[in-house]
Amino acid sequence: MTRVHDSGEDDPGHLSPEQKGNAAMAASFTADLTGKTAVVTGASSGIGHAIAEEYLRNGATVVGLHRRPVATHGGKYVPVAVDLGEPDQVRAAAAAVLREHRVDILVNNAGLNLRHPFEDFPFEDWDRVQQLNIRSVVELTQLFGRPMLERGAGVIVNLASMLSFTGGFTASAYAASKGAVAQFTKSVANEWAAKGVRVNAIAPGFIDTEMNVALVADETRNRKILERIPAGRWGTAEDIAGAALFLVSDAARFVHGTVLPVDGGYLAR
Ligand SMILES: NC(=O)c1ccc[n+]([C@@H]2O[C@H](COP(=O)([O-])OP(=O)(O)OC[C@H]3O[C@@H](n4cnc5c(N)ncnc54)[C@H](OP(=O)(O)O)[C@@H]3O)[C@@H](O)[C@H]2O)c1
Repeated sequence: MTRVHDSGEDDPGHLSPEQKGNAAMAASFTADLTGKTAVVTGASSGIGHAIAEEYLRNGATVVGLHRRPVATHGGKYVPVAVDLGEPDQVRAAAAAVLREHRVDILVNNAGLNLRHPFEDFPFEDWDRVQQLNIRSVVELTQLFGRPMLERGAGVIVNLASMLSFTGGFTASAYAASKGAVAQFTKSVANEWAAKGVRVNAIAPGFIDTEMNVALVADETRNRKILERIPAGRWGTAEDIAGAALFLVSDAARFVHGTVLPVDGGYLAR
């Protein structure tokens, strides 16, 4: 069992400090989120952490839903402890947040990948992946989306994957869940576009998050991956945060139902 949010194939490459600096510098787009409240799931690490930081930097209040305490977010950050793998906790957390906040932005970021050859895939693990990666996304979208519809304003961003498009290996539950995230995003976007609520997804490519550290050490597999990424480097969590800021900004006001690859060109290859 592996709790890894990779792209389902092969292994990560490695970013030099210089490349990481360039990636961070590239995320120089700004948006005025003053007065907005964003709920970000899985904000304790990786991509969710970077998105929370980006929204805070741009003036938002961020309510983070995750299990672990977060030490590094400061300012207008409100941590909420919840296991999104438990349906009752999903509903209770959403209700508690809605009692205290008017939520303008929802980012469904938390996710996990449990790997097994499909012929041996235990249904317990299959269900855990579906619960977190799609069922909690669906439920949070409905619970936070309803008040957005009443106000006629809101933005939702879901985290899809390269495995929304491709099948990968030994990641059938993850691929099925992320395929569902992409189609769910388009479906809800169609229903809510004319009602003032925009729904989109980001499909990250190979992103150098904490969970992929062990793979970075494998030079051979690292090289294989890098050969397949036209940009020639792994993505950073900040690369994804830049796209997540764009999608909730007014600059994206006519963007509905897109599944935006942020992958260094991987899918175009
Ligand atoms: N990294 C990649 O290469 C990549 C590629 C494609 C797509 N993605 C997607 O991007 C998203 C973020 O990935 P990441 O790489 O940043 O992963 P990560 O570093 O492992 O972070 C996952 C986050 O999800 C939270 N989480 C996991 N299980 C949870 C649960 N049961 N209840 C509440 N929170 C839970 C974790 O918080 P706690 O442990 O505190 O609960 C953590 O904050 C995921 O949806 C992933 O599928 C990642």
